[in-house]
Amino acid sequence: MLVNTKEMFQRAKEGGYAIAAPDYWDSVSCKTFVKTCEKLGIPTVLSYAQAHLDMQSLEEAYNTGSFFAKQSAMPVALHLDHGQSFDFCKRAIDLGFTSVMIDASMETFEKNVEITKQVVEYAHAHGVTVEAELGHVGTGETYASEQNDSIYTEVEAAVEFVKQTGVDSLAVSIGTAHGKYKKAVKPVLDFERLHDLAKSVPVPLVLHGGSGSGDDNLERCALEGITKINVFTDFTVAALKASAGKEYDDLFVRIREEEEGIANELTHYASVFHTQKWEK
Ligand code: 13P
Repeated sequence: MLVNTKEMFQRAKEGGYAIAAPDYWDSVSCKTFVKTCEKLGIPTVLSYAQAHLDMQSLEEAYNTGSFFAKQSAMPVALHLDHGQSFDFCKRAIDLGFTSVMIDASMETFEKNVEITKQVVEYAHAHGVTVEAELGHVGTGETYASEQNDSIYTEVEAAVEFVKQTGVDSLAVSIGTAHGKYKKAVKPVLDFERLHDLAKSVPVPLVLHGGSGSGDDNLERCALEGITKINVFTDFTVAALKASAGKEYDDLFVRIREEEEGIANELTHYASVFHTQKWEK
């Protein structure tokens, strides 16, 4: 069933676990994410990133995502990940996405508030939930170097941001990064900051850059205050690994093996995040 994130986040926050938000890049990954969660009996935030426009248009992503989400017996929020403008978020909402992220985290605090507020107003009038980001989660390629572009989230600013914007969830920066980490270093996360954020910020917290961040780190995040964890790169790696080094004379066999690789990775993360089964 296609839903927004409200109830699933509320249950996860109260239950002290996290929900996986996998980014799909085509219909195979989309179907695999939804079917795997249905098999596990858990909710999910099925995500499409604006940065992946060259792989599938917003309309294509909506049609594929909503088709599988509506078929599922489990709650599925169809989410726009890293929406870059009010106009793009509006297009997603008008199509029928049930959740959007507006990422104005590289703007000043004031500008981030202004853009986020505009999205919240439009989204809430359409029953759509909104995620924003404060602080900035950078990329793994520059991790642990002088050019690391991650900027950690300040607790007081986060509280003020939520108050001023009315967002439903907030992506925070505590030490993870998007994509592969340089030389596969495992990041050091600021758990003290996470505890302070979880204590003070009234809405569910989101962690970006799940891939390669270490199961122990992610498990602690899920148990100590994060409600949703975004993962993309590890699923693409799992798909590639499942078919690596083999010669195929049947394309369908290869696709099935890739699906299995993706499904195993998601099953693994659902267990790391302690995602609880959905009870009606
Ligand atoms: P990774 O590719 O590092 O898992 O990051 C995914 C993400 O945060 C998408 O918003």
